[in-house]
Amino acid sequence: MKKFLLAALVAASMLVANAATTPIYLDESLPIEQRVNDLLPRLTLDEKLAIIHAQSKFSSAGVARLGIPTFWTDDGPHGVRPDVLWDEWEQAGATNDSCVAFPALTCLAATWNPAIARRYGVSLGEEARYRGKDMILGPGVNIYRTPLNGRNFEYMGEDPFLASQMVVPYVQGLQSLGVSACIKHYALNNNEHERHTTNVIVDDRALHEIYLPAFKAAVQQGGAWAIMGAYNLYNNQHLCHNQVMLNDILKRQWGFDGVVVSDWGGAHDTWQAIHNGLDMEFGTWTDGLSEGAKNAYDSYYLALPYKKLLQEGKVSMATLDEKVRRVLRLMMRTTLATRPRGSMCSNEHYQTARDVAAEGIVLLKNDRGLLPIDPARHRRILVVGENAIKMMTVGGGSSSLKAQHEILPLDGLRQRLEADGVTVDYARGYVGDPTGEYNGVTTGQSLKDDRAPEVLIAEAVEKARHADLVIFMGGLNKAQFQDSEGDDRKDYALPYDQGRVIEALARANKNLVVVNISGNAVAMPWRKQVPAIVQGWFLGSEAGTSLARILVGDDNPSGKLPFSWYERLDDCAAHSVGDYPGTKRANENIWDEHYREGIYVGYRWLDKTKRRPAFAFGHGLSYTTFAMSKGKITGQDGNYTATVTVTNTGQRAGSEVVQLYITDVKSSVDRPAKELKGFKKVHLQPGESRVVSIDITPDMLSYYDASQHRWVAEPGEFIARLGTASDNLPIALKFTY
Ligand code: BGC
Repeated sequence: MKKFLLAALVAASMLVANAATTPIYLDESLPIEQRVNDLLPRLTLDEKLAIIHAQSKFSSAGVARLGIPTFWTDDGPHGVRPDVLWDEWEQAGATNDSCVAFPALTCLAATWNPAIARRYGVSLGEEARYRGKDMILGPGVNIYRTPLNGRNFEYMGEDPFLASQMVVPYVQGLQSLGVSACIKHYALNNNEHERHTTNVIVDDRALHEIYLPAFKAAVQQGGAWAIMGAYNLYNNQHLCHNQVMLNDILKRQWGFDGVVVSDWGGAHDTWQAIHNGLDMEFGTWTDGLSEGAKNAYDSYYLALPYKKLLQEGKVSMATLDEKVRRVLRLMMRTTLATRPRGSMCSNEHYQTARDVAAEGIVLLKNDRGLLPIDPARHRRILVVGENAIKMMTVGGGSSSLKAQHEILPLDGLRQRLEADGVTVDYARGYVGDPTGEYNGVTTGQSLKDDRAPEVLIAEAVEKARHADLVIFMGGLNKAQFQDSEGDDRKDYALPYDQGRVIEALARANKNLVVVNISGNAVAMPWRKQVPAIVQGWFLGSEAGTSLARILVGDDNPSGKLPFSWYERLDDCAAHSVGDYPGTKRANENIWDEHYREGIYVGYRWLDKTKRRPAFAFGHGLSYTTFAMSKGKITGQDGNYTATVTVTNTGQRAGSEVVQLYITDVKSSVDRPAKELKGFKKVHLQPGESRVVSIDITPDMLSYYDASQHRWVAEPGEFIARLGTASDNLPIALKFTY
């Protein structure tokens, strides 16, 4: 007994000693603000400055003396980017940085399934943790304003509501691992052309109704811990240090308590960086070596130049402390938190990649029920096109990855079909981009083919004549001027004269399927000659498996377009009334770009001008059929519920997305004919019915009143339109607010 008492006394005294020696800032049981308050005064000026700017390409300093680790960021957003050298973009040559490449964010948006966005975030967070990353540079939610934008594949489409619904769970999933999201590129970064020198001019209403909601949702509902300023300008100020966007809107109006990170090389001026909302500077002088006496990072705007101004008393310590406070808060949430260890390349992660693809691939057209492939009838299949054999995880800019594996579409199809005795032949059809390298990661593929276009087409046509089914796999790729960072596409047409190949194949074989791999819509002048069209996106590691599963019908397509697929580029407002890509000022290297279409982006513009797209926003077919009951609306005083019963009337299990759009019947301001304000995806067995209810609240009825700087819902009559695509909304339910 005595012995036990003694032991208890010793243990108790150790606890007291521990409590006395564990500094408050390391005590995770205490509120974060209390820990930050404790830590801040312990830092020297140099330590404070060190943690607000980079010390290498992708890291910023911790404070070793206080047990605060280095902070590691990495791209983002489709997988964890391989490690580059400390000061250069070239590969570090690590052998443990091969990852799972998840489908691109356009594909995720096309799932219209927030639950799968959360899984995406969790899987990515696990990979990031295993790789020792504290922040993933993503996801991106810039609005799809023109199909020429080289980075649309990294974003979530044209609609602010859809993007908001999809970004929130991604952020929450990622951050549940103790890995910070970094929402990008805030904001108005809607094209890549002249991205450092474009000054966007947009009215306040469009800013708040179209371009900001997804960022706001990521911050307020998703609780994002960081956001990345965009390269371009707004209000004649670069967006990485922009008074209106960062201080007024993000921090003051939205109450953002996280960190504003500069895009790599997006900071341009010390005074502005100090005062206009930037908290952490990365990537300045991106060669990393050309500036500064001993260390380029000392010359960063927020490094020695900042110190000099502080020492001269020209700027306040309070402003620095505010930045440091935000960075310390980020550390409490990440590097100073007890976090799961994560995992890499697990079966679960590959399953997530396949499931996102299965739900995101869009069946655009399927005349005569040509798809799915029927191994009993389609005994000889011909695959044509470079995208069937080209790796897509390498290239495209900062989202480029080093995937542990990437299953090519042709291989995926062969693996799936040859077991059923189907022969799958291949013809190149055209030569696009035979290279495959990004920042020192090479695909190892040899895609060189010197044959003339006529020879390639003749070969494909000859083989097509003897096939039961022909699958053309083309589209865009990640080469410059395609779906790639730093530049936009030069035109809307498919590159490399693919249209010619498709038309020749359509003449040779009536059973033609076109699979378009891209993050953007493309012109399809041959659309009517092709019975089946599939939008295949960039699908990552499991591309081939995923496409095969959809084409054969192992997975029933349920993806819906997250953007309008214009017939012609001129149908897009940015190119007809907008002045994309802007006009260069006479004596200055600044391009002013007027978003003259205002709020009329995507289907809002098509509705207003009564144009029909090739494929509408929200469109996507299935191998089964669905029916909807009449629907009803209940509720009053601003809280309503729209209800409809959906039935799977076909022979296969499948998923349908019930979409709800609101029309304000009479308004004191000009309003879009309809706007997406709710959706639900339901999975149904053949014959099964499900009641789907979608709540409608006053914020869904409101518009942004720029003169009052607030959202306004005007009393009066509204219509809730329900259906399965923006051009297929058979149910109209009137209600009064
Ligand atoms: C891109 C960012 C990226 C950063 C770091 C920039 O060029 O715009 O999206 O996160 O580089 O790679």
